[in-house]
Amino acid sequence: MTREFTRVGVVGLGTMGAGIVEVFARNGVPVVAVEVSAAALDRGRANLTGSTDRAVSRGKLAEADRDALLGRVDFAVGLDALHSVDLVIEAVPERLDVKQRLFAELDRICHPQAILATNTSSLSVTEIAVSTGRPQQVVGVHFFNPAPVMKLVEIVRTVVTAADVVADVEALCARLGKVDVTIDDRAGFIANALLFGYLNQAVGMFEAGYATRADLDAAMKLGCGLPMGPLALLDLIGLDTAYEILETMYRRGGRNRRHAPVPLLRQMVTAGLLGRKTGRGFYTYERPGSSKVV
Ligand code: 3HC
Repeated sequence: MTREFTRVGVVGLGTMGAGIVEVFARNGVPVVAVEVSAAALDRGRANLTGSTDRAVSRGKLAEADRDALLGRVDFAVGLDALHSVDLVIEAVPERLDVKQRLFAELDRICHPQAILATNTSSLSVTEIAVSTGRPQQVVGVHFFNPAPVMKLVEIVRTVVTAADVVADVEALCARLGKVDVTIDDRAGFIANALLFGYLNQAVGMFEAGYATRADLDAAMKLGCGLPMGPLALLDLIGLDTAYEILETMYRRGGRNRRHAPVPLLRQMVTAGLLGRKTGRGFYTYERPGSSKVV
């Protein structure tokens, strides 16, 4: 029997989580959006309203549609609000212990048929799945940043994910206007496995003084037709997120030096230069969260 997904949940309303909430709500799917505290919930709500207000001011979304979109989202503190959803997507920080604890709780709270999905970008979906009593209903559903814009979703199946779960999630992605690819549980899945060695190498070239940041980015943007250069993309992804992904891929992928984070990346993360979200990374932005370089 095909699942209807009449109501879904999203846990964690940072950049990715809030973007995923927007994707569902834009496409008519009611969402329960959950955070751990009232303060985090307020930040998550601001992420969502900021994005939808921007779309209205750019003439891309009518005010009435924005209001209808926001009307499909119920904000809540704590996981109990997820007891009746058909699917939960987790988008909390990339720490295995945190995700495992969360999935054990979700397993206890959500109804037995619910699918539990992780938006992890590099951790093992299998290791997350086995912290539940329903590993056959655990799947990776990996969105790309910015989630409302990027067309791709990677669906990650483990050796125990049920085929009908994968098929139902594929059908849901189509309903969201996304294109899905399905892969096994390998470090970095498809896109990050290919992308992050390149991004790391770009930081290495910058660190070595090989070329300026503007020239490195211009080479890839104008020479290779990419929408943005590697350093600008790292600022968009967030240097802390990129560092965590590289570290995990390095560990899980047989310690390939392509994925050993370049020292400069670590120094920038320690110094709080995380990219757009803190207002400064490889570039400096008008204000935290802005895409405008000053
Ligand atoms: N939220 C919602 N919409 C956004 C947005 C956001 N954060 N950022 C941009 N948009 C929308 C704009 O409203 C605009 O919509 P429109 O065409 O309907 O007017 C459209 O995207 C284009 O935006 P802009 O005109 O401002 O700027 P660009 O044309 O330069 O596009 C970009 C911005 C979409 C970010 C583009 O530069 C791009 O595609 N960059 C590459 C992004 C990428 O590679 N992402 C993957 C990162 S890896 C990843 O996410 C994996 C994870 O595990 C780390």
